[in-house]
Amino acid sequence: MHPTFISHVATAALLASSSVSAIDLNIDSVDSIKSVAATLAYDMMSYYKGNTSGGIIGVLPGPPPNPPDGYYWWESGAMWGSLIDYWHFTGDTSYNDVVSNGIQAQVGENIDMMPKNWSQSMGNDDQAFWGMTALLAAEYNFPAPTDPKAPSWLSLAQAVFNTQAVRPDAPCGGGLRWQVFPYLTGYDYKNSIANGCFFNIGARLARYTANDTYAQHAETTWDWITNVGLMDADYNIYDGAHIQHNCTDINRVQFSYNSAVWLLGAANMYNYTNGDAKWKTRVDGLLNQTFNIFFPDNIAYEVACEPKLSCTTDMFSFKSYLTRWLASVTKVAPYTHDEVIKRLKPSAQAAAKQCVGGDNGRTCGLSWSSGKYDGTKGVGQTMAAMSAVFVNLADLLPIKPPFTNATGGTSIGNPNAGSGSTDSLDPIKPATNADRAGAGIITTLVLLSATGMFGWMSI
Ligand SMILES: *[C@@H]1O[C@H](CO)[C@@H](O)[C@H](O)[C@H]1NC(C)=O
Ligand SMILES: *[C@@H]1O[C@H](CO)[C@@H](O)[C@H](O)[C@H]1NC(C)=O
Ligand SMILES: *[C@@H]1O[C@H](CO)[C@@H](O)[C@H](O)[C@H]1NC(C)=O
Ligand SMILES: *[C@@H]1O[C@H](CO)[C@@H](O)[C@H](O)[C@H]1NC(C)=O
Ligand SMILES: *[C@@H]1O[C@H](CO)[C@@H](O)[C@H](O)[C@H]1NC(C)=O
Ligand SMILES: *[C@@H]1O[C@H](CO)[C@@H](O)[C@H](O)[C@H]1NC(C)=O
Ligand SMILES: *[C@@H]1O[C@H](CO)[C@@H](O)[C@H](O)[C@H]1NC(C)=O
Repeated sequence: MHPTFISHVATAALLASSSVSAIDLNIDSVDSIKSVAATLAYDMMSYYKGNTSGGIIGVLPGPPPNPPDGYYWWESGAMWGSLIDYWHFTGDTSYNDVVSNGIQAQVGENIDMMPKNWSQSMGNDDQAFWGMTALLAAEYNFPAPTDPKAPSWLSLAQAVFNTQAVRPDAPCGGGLRWQVFPYLTGYDYKNSIANGCFFNIGARLARYTANDTYAQHAETTWDWITNVGLMDADYNIYDGAHIQHNCTDINRVQFSYNSAVWLLGAANMYNYTNGDAKWKTRVDGLLNQTFNIFFPDNIAYEVACEPKLSCTTDMFSFKSYLTRWLASVTKVAPYTHDEVIKRLKPSAQAAAKQCVGGDNGRTCGLSWSSGKYDGTKGVGQTMAAMSAVFVNLADLLPIKPPFTNATGGTSIGNPNAGSGSTDSLDPIKPATNADRAGAGIITTLVLLSATGMFGWMSI
């Protein structure tokens, strides 16, 4: 066992055996924030079985229905990202090896973050969540893989970018489709998260590498989403629309990760352009509307599904990206710091307060602003509470901004990464019609439940 892991287990065991099991957070204390975040990181990792016999390295149990409360592949990539941030903010290296091994185990046969194993649910957003995690590793100088033949963190992000840059097509005047492969349900849907992740990666790669090609793609993607109306003039960001309707059938449900992924991308464009007024206007508008919609009473709130607790497994995790990406915005657009911290503090306090459920007496739900544990639990809820807590170190410690190649970033990229990616669908086509139907059902259920549950918000 890794020494820091042992000491960490010891801390957690101590916590578990002590009579005070609920989370006791002092938001003005570095030690308290670190200790609470460590406990929540430990609880989150208790869901990961990749390091035990029968588990798959790099992925959480799943996808549903095996087991029914399992996780889709993308959320594992998102979780490694949260632990890279956790390490960057707290300095705790306990999980670094597990994170590094987990990402490397899932780079895929063509080193493009699209393993064949997961082609039955491969959306551009799924691939991109792993790409954003790899990019974060590069931006923070997360320890490089020890195997010299392993792809660098930066090159993995570039591979995702390069494979996606050729995918926007004519319907709806451009933009990425949700799904990567034509046989997947949702291939006819163009949405804000798939395009937002591509925009985000492009903007951050432009800042990291100073290669303007990435920025040009980010610009094109911004122009497309505003033109098609998935982002409106008030900076509302709607979920998506179908190509059969030339994307006029806009599903107006709003999720916090959509606003956050575009906001962080815009903040990186602002930084990359050295404070361009155009990008400042966009950052200000997105920030304002993010606060308006997702921070009633300054506490992060998943407005589409939190009121009736109708969130899917995926949605329970969105506030993790909301809080972490807002914290990252304060680093690349420092003038936003005070307004952001004003919301992150009460969010963390509210998140910690409701972590009083379950057998361990400190299980977290989603309903932060209610002041009560809501009875739900999972990786998403724990990751979101953990994230909300540790990001507040940004107000107490000199947390380093993301590096660039020019300011000390050490990950060496490969502009041609992803060229081994296959365009041919043959090797990944479902073996049988039964498999194909199975895949369709998963995504159709997601779509149906999205329109069913959230239909009242659609026009
Ligand atoms: C398994 O967990 C141990 C302890 O955290 C860690 O050192 C090791 O790298 C992990 N192995 C993999 C393959 O993730
Ligand atoms: C792919 O799935 C198989 C069967 O579940 C598993 O044994 C294998 O480890 C997986 N490979 C990766 C890279 O996830
Ligand atoms: C389809 O939508 C795009 C984007 O909004 C628009 O530019 C184009 O004119 C539309 N095409 C038709 C035929 O309406
Ligand atoms: C860009 O980011 C760096 C690092 O955080 C920061 O020092 C600089 O002020 C930012 N640029 C602008 C225009 O805010
Ligand atoms: C902020 O949002 C409010 C409410 O929608 C709006 O009236 C105001 O114009 C917005 N301000 C900016 C800078 O976008
Ligand atoms: C990144 O920085 C290194 C070392 O300073 C330099 O050799 C390399 O050319 C840079 N790469 C890019 C793409 O600018
Ligand atoms: C900039 O990025 C593009 C897109 O990946 C690539 O084709 C080009 O070679 C890169 N330029 C440099 C100087 O690295």
